[in-house]
Amino acid sequence: MGAGRTAAVLAALGVLSVCEASGSRPVAEGEAGGAVEWAEPWDGAVFRPPSALGAVGVARGPGTPRPGSGEAVDLPVLLWWSPGLFPHFPGDSERIECARGACVASRDRRVRGDSRTRALLFYGTDFRASEAPLPRLAHQSWALLHEESPLNNFLLSHSPGIRLFNLTATFSRHSDYPLPLQWLPGTAYLRRAAPPLPERADWRRRGYAPLLYLQSHCDVPADRDRYVRELMRYIPVDSYGKCLKNRELPTPRLQDTATATTEDPELLAFLSRYKFHLALENAICDDYMTEKLWRPMHLGAVPVYRGSPSVRDWVPNNHSIILIDDFESPQKLAEFIDFLDKNDEEYMKYLAYKQPGGITNQFLLDSLKQREWGVNDPLLPNYLNGFECFVCDHELARLDAEKAYAASPGDIPVLEPHIAQPSHMDCPVPTPGFGSVEDIPENDSRSLILAINHCICLRFLWPFRER
Ligand SMILES: *[C@@H]1O[C@H](CO)[C@@H](O)[C@H](O)[C@H]1NC(C)=O
Ligand SMILES: *[C@@H]1O[C@H](CO)[C@@H](O)[C@H](O)[C@H]1NC(C)=O
Ligand SMILES: *[C@@H]1O[C@H](CO)[C@@H](O)[C@H](O)[C@H]1NC(C)=O
Repeated sequence: MGAGRTAAVLAALGVLSVCEASGSRPVAEGEAGGAVEWAEPWDGAVFRPPSALGAVGVARGPGTPRPGSGEAVDLPVLLWWSPGLFPHFPGDSERIECARGACVASRDRRVRGDSRTRALLFYGTDFRASEAPLPRLAHQSWALLHEESPLNNFLLSHSPGIRLFNLTATFSRHSDYPLPLQWLPGTAYLRRAAPPLPERADWRRRGYAPLLYLQSHCDVPADRDRYVRELMRYIPVDSYGKCLKNRELPTPRLQDTATATTEDPELLAFLSRYKFHLALENAICDDYMTEKLWRPMHLGAVPVYRGSPSVRDWVPNNHSIILIDDFESPQKLAEFIDFLDKNDEEYMKYLAYKQPGGITNQFLLDSLKQREWGVNDPLLPNYLNGFECFVCDHELARLDAEKAYAASPGDIPVLEPHIAQPSHMDCPVPTPGFGSVEDIPENDSRSLILAINHCICLRFLWPFRER
């Protein structure tokens, strides 16, 4: 199909105008204000240094030794291309010590052309193809940190987008530096005792619904609000966030999202009054799981979950969450929740993993044990510094391999390029949360429609851009 004809077909579908209007961030408007919002992971500031740090510190060239840090002249340099993510303070460069040796981490873009600058590090949410440092230098690896969902950058869920990079740290288990458990501090977090059932029964008698919904980021491509709205027709749901709100949090302090964060103990105590929490991710990608999955378990509630299609691989045992997609309709799901709500013995089976030996998923246990970074763990690096060292070690190994090859080219094979794969960001085109696309009223689920169009549009346009 020629480019002209494709354009005509797309125009007929009304797709081209959407592409142009939406740029590379089709659904970002919802977050424009950047307001703190308890229900969304990327506002949690798990590792992001406050932006004020960016302005502080004395500029220091990467070759300049830091006091007490020894000579840094010949060390490989890792350049953080994304502003604001540089995980060191103060200054613009820092010697880092990793398993294989040392590197210099820098955010001074002037070193970009230096032969010692071996890797450029990008943050996925900020990455714009049009702002990429081109031409690309043959001796440099590109490393991508993108732990968020594609909601924040659809470009990277497309094969040519992800394949721009050599190394990745994403939510996917297939990534070079995998972060699927980025929201799970550890098994103790899951094992925390649940509130006694009579206490919950008491709240139910006082008019609480069996189900909680706490969501303030409305109208996302995963189309969760339409599903929940339909579910509400068959079972009571108490909704406290901006989306489908039908109740107020009990105190003004909790209502104010600027003072009560997701981890606020008073908020958590309140949420734990509910037996079931609706837990729907903002995008559906393999291995993309957030605190929406783990927090209800921590609080002793049963997550009613839609998100990573492979979530079963990660949960503590085979009877610990309710998967929305196991039910043919919101009505059937409502009937099942109602059954569990009235049947304590069946309900408690969902919390059996809290008993000694109850976490039987060996894959989960092994994955937690093997990861080298921690979640708010003072004894372990966070994954930002962890990934930086991973890249440093990779580059030191690559340098050694290059040297070995240069010394005896006949005996040693040429180093194969290492290129990121689409499986590192596996997010299919979004589908309606409920019903079919044709049935969605025009004034509803705008971001789902935009996302679908945007995906179709990237798919069509990439081949032509590549040439
Ligand atoms: C779930 O685990 C239990 C106990 O390990 C086992 O008996 C049961 O067969 C498993 N069920 C499924 C569906 O895997
Ligand atoms: C990095 O990836 C690009 C493709 O995006 C590839 O051309 C290049 O050879 C790779 N470099 C290394 C060092 O693997
Ligand atoms: C869409 O419009 C219909 C008819 O005006 C209205 O009843 C419905 O509430 C609207 N839906 C949304 C999601 O705004």
